[in-house]
Amino acid sequence: MKPKILITRNILPEALQYLKEHVDYEIGATGRNLTKKEIIEKIKDKEGLYSLLVDTIDKDVINAAPLLKIIANCAVGYNNINIDYAHKKGIMVTNTPGVLTETTADLTWALIFAVARRIPQADKFTREKKYKGWELDLFLGKEITGKQLGIIGMGRIGKAVALRSKAFKMKVVYSDPVRLSPEEENEYQASFVTLEKLISSSDIITMHTALTSETFHLISKKELKLMKKDAILVNVSRGEVVDEKALADALEKNQIWGAGLDVYENEPEIESKLINLDNVVLLPHIGSATYETRLKMAMTAAENLVQGLKGKRPKNLIAF
Ligand code: DGY
Repeated sequence: MKPKILITRNILPEALQYLKEHVDYEIGATGRNLTKKEIIEKIKDKEGLYSLLVDTIDKDVINAAPLLKIIANCAVGYNNINIDYAHKKGIMVTNTPGVLTETTADLTWALIFAVARRIPQADKFTREKKYKGWELDLFLGKEITGKQLGIIGMGRIGKAVALRSKAFKMKVVYSDPVRLSPEEENEYQASFVTLEKLISSSDIITMHTALTSETFHLISKKELKLMKKDAILVNVSRGEVVDEKALADALEKNQIWGAGLDVYENEPEIESKLINLDNVVLLPHIGSATYETRLKMAMTAAENLVQGLKGKRPKNLIAF
């Protein structure tokens, strides 16, 4: 008999096809997320859980799953899972690192340019037939070339963002709990600085840190005040690393030039003030959303899950 698993919400058909060969799956919901109550109900008799970053897998869910051996999260981030408790219960947890690095770095740059060159606003203006001919001062933006890029969190994605900045002849500074080796600093042409120095001296600040108790509200009122008046802040990591309300206040007061956000503190809710501000570009958490990358993520999670259920060490096991 194949092991029973729960896939919380419909996933790409290629991943389902693969899973079908190895497990007996139930898809929790189509076109919507499962509630915690529904997950608890459906997980009771399952040995595997294929979860998405929108699913909260806390103590209650884990306690409701006496047979559970593995949680395969279809995301690189796993702040939605109580990992310590899962480990305490002997449950493996996996994620999907590596496969979404380039796509997320690309989107970071798309956001930087969208904010700096006011692309969504200019597109709207043109569609509204407001374009009456070339003007010297129409939609003046911010120059990127030669500016200082501050990368908070120099993991895979931070590094990929740094590599792309070479084309724009930028000075790159980074802050991270772990300093890169001299060879890597040379490869990425990046200088290690304190967070405070990065925040106060960078023209563009981009967040690539995981969400932990240390990174919650890493950027708040105090840090926003430290930023240059024409700084741009971009967040494609997790919403909670930026105090969204404080950011909205700073943007409203034009304390910084602008911001680009792909993630929010209480997704899908967005701080209402942000919606009406012209100096922020808002995206619906699409950092890794290309067909190629989402397929790799879906397949990686499926393979991790099957490896774990077959008693093998899954490729992307988050260390016990
Ligand atoms: C992740 O994988 O953690 C991203 O937020 C979604 O692509």
